[in-house]
Amino acid sequence: MTFLRACIVSVVVVLAGHASAVEPTVNDFSCIRDMTPVRGFYVDNLDGDLAATVAVAEAGQGTYPTGSVVQLVPTEVMVKREAGFNPATKDWEFIELDVSADGTAIRARGFAEVVNRFGGNCFACHVKARPEFDMICEQNHGCDPIPLTAVMVKAIQKTDPRCDAVALTPEESAALQALMSATATPSSD
Ligand code: HEC
Repeated sequence: MTFLRACIVSVVVVLAGHASAVEPTVNDFSCIRDMTPVRGFYVDNLDGDLAATVAVAEAGQGTYPTGSVVQLVPTEVMVKREAGFNPATKDWEFIELDVSADGTAIRARGFAEVVNRFGGNCFACHVKARPEFDMICEQNHGCDPIPLTAVMVKAIQKTDPRCDAVALTPEESAALQALMSATATPSSD
């Protein structure tokens, strides 16, 4: 009887241990191209189940498992927290990073309230993705668009300052140039 009870206790402990909390820290983020590419974006999993995250990403719909990390550009991240953590955002935490050759810093993080450096509220756009897409926008899931072409995105991914340098195609260089002149803020003095 005591042995049986010990067995039951250890099964419960193992199950509880598996449903661990995911608490992303700045050390979880580095060169975007070290993540796993799926179509135009990158994924990872902080809870040890990369295969489950890749499966949903490749299916192109469905609910991402706890621990999933999704990125399109080096500075914006979605991390799937444990089930029930934040029902409004379907448990996604929105994180904006500052990235440089020195590494990564967290600029903003949270749930429905997070605003990016361009004044856009992450949740307000991502919540418009149709339900089967679990707040993942891609190009045609119902979100408001972002002003980046696929070539611009590729160029931004290739120039993540935390990664080893790789060559840009002439088309990517031109796209990056166009983007930089479009986002250059005029000096106020
Ligand atoms: C103006 C609306 C808008 C805002 C604001 C916005 N996003 Fe997005 N986001 C999009 C769209 C649209 C895409 C897909 C673009 C593409 O694939 O070409 C996207 C892509 C992404 C992706 C890749 C997965 C996906 O959904 O396709 C992540 C991760 C992401 N955004 C995180 C964030 C975070 C974090 C913030 C805030 C710091 C944010 N976004 C702000 C619209 C927005």
